[in-house]
Amino acid sequence: MGYESIKWDKLGFDYIKTDLRYLSYWRNGAWQEGTLTEDNVLHISEGSTALHYGQQCFEGLKAYRCKDGSINLFRPDQNALRMQRSCARLLMPPVPSDVFIEACKQVVRANERFIPPYGTGGALYLRPFIIGVGDNIGVRTAPEFIFSIFCMPVGAYFKGGLKPNNFVISSYDRAAPNGTGAAKVGGNYAASLMPGAEAKKRHFADCIYLDPQTHSKIEEVGSANFFAITRNDEFITPKSPSVLPGITRLSLIELAQTRLGLKVIEGDVFIDRIDEFKEAGACGTAAVITPIGGIEYQDKLHVFYSEEEVGPVTQRLYNELTGVQTGDIEAPEGWIVKV
Ligand code: PLP
Ligand code: COI
Repeated sequence: MGYESIKWDKLGFDYIKTDLRYLSYWRNGAWQEGTLTEDNVLHISEGSTALHYGQQCFEGLKAYRCKDGSINLFRPDQNALRMQRSCARLLMPPVPSDVFIEACKQVVRANERFIPPYGTGGALYLRPFIIGVGDNIGVRTAPEFIFSIFCMPVGAYFKGGLKPNNFVISSYDRAAPNGTGAAKVGGNYAASLMPGAEAKKRHFADCIYLDPQTHSKIEEVGSANFFAITRNDEFITPKSPSVLPGITRLSLIELAQTRLGLKVIEGDVFIDRIDEFKEAGACGTAAVITPIGGIEYQDKLHVFYSEEEVGPVTQRLYNELTGVQTGDIEAPEGWIVKV
């Protein structure tokens, strides 16, 4: 899609080639100076570990246009830290936080015309990634790596934005108990493709995974974290070593507590007790907050607040989160990095 045909208020979550992307190579034991390039095609060795052994990780974060025309990055330091943890898990060289954040800023500035205008609900989605490259064939860490960040304007990931979506519990696992679930690595997403496609074929937005050890507790959606509101107005979200520690989830935990005055519980969310929740939602950078209308489990659809309307607590959380991201509401210390 060309720039001229972008409809800012109708954006979904689709690839759009923007002007420039950041590219840096790790060679001879160090990250080289990164450059911005027009070329969106990578030329890599056929033996690259990223192609054969899944040695790669990625991130997702957004830049927002504010009312006064300035540009906000939301908690990029947290994405930098998570990427360093993913690198440690897959034996890849970490990118220092200051390099990561500076590269994000360069990409946003170089593609400023692609940032959706304030008030459209869209944002510029940044996709940093690191891949193992270079000539190799044995199962070992790569001799060279590429760190790149590209971006594109996006709108809603799940259809309807704040309209509730239905999800289905999967009988598959996306990650193993002591595997790579907590790292943002491609293998977890490869494992989620077939269950996700089966869910979509049955008109669900996506599937929800249970804990891989006992299959009795909710873990997360294939592309977002899970939260619910209990009948006592508590904000509850699963805590598990195989769940991706989401930055939206982390932010909602703090906002629920400090701004909405809710008690927060990070713990077990047993699937056979979901009727105790009055609202539920999926949260993530792409998903923002997507209300969960209902969850199908063992052939029964458990509806929370409504299949048509967002619940009041979810709506307040959404207003607070998106207000902070676009600069309309004061952010907690350190959450916003101006570009
Ligand atoms: N869980 C999974 C599997 C995800 O892909 C994402 C998206 O990044 C999240 C959770 C939410 O993480 P974040 O809020 O950092 O985007
Ligand atoms: C994100 O929210 O940034 C994600 O990575 C989710 C999905 C697009 C994989």
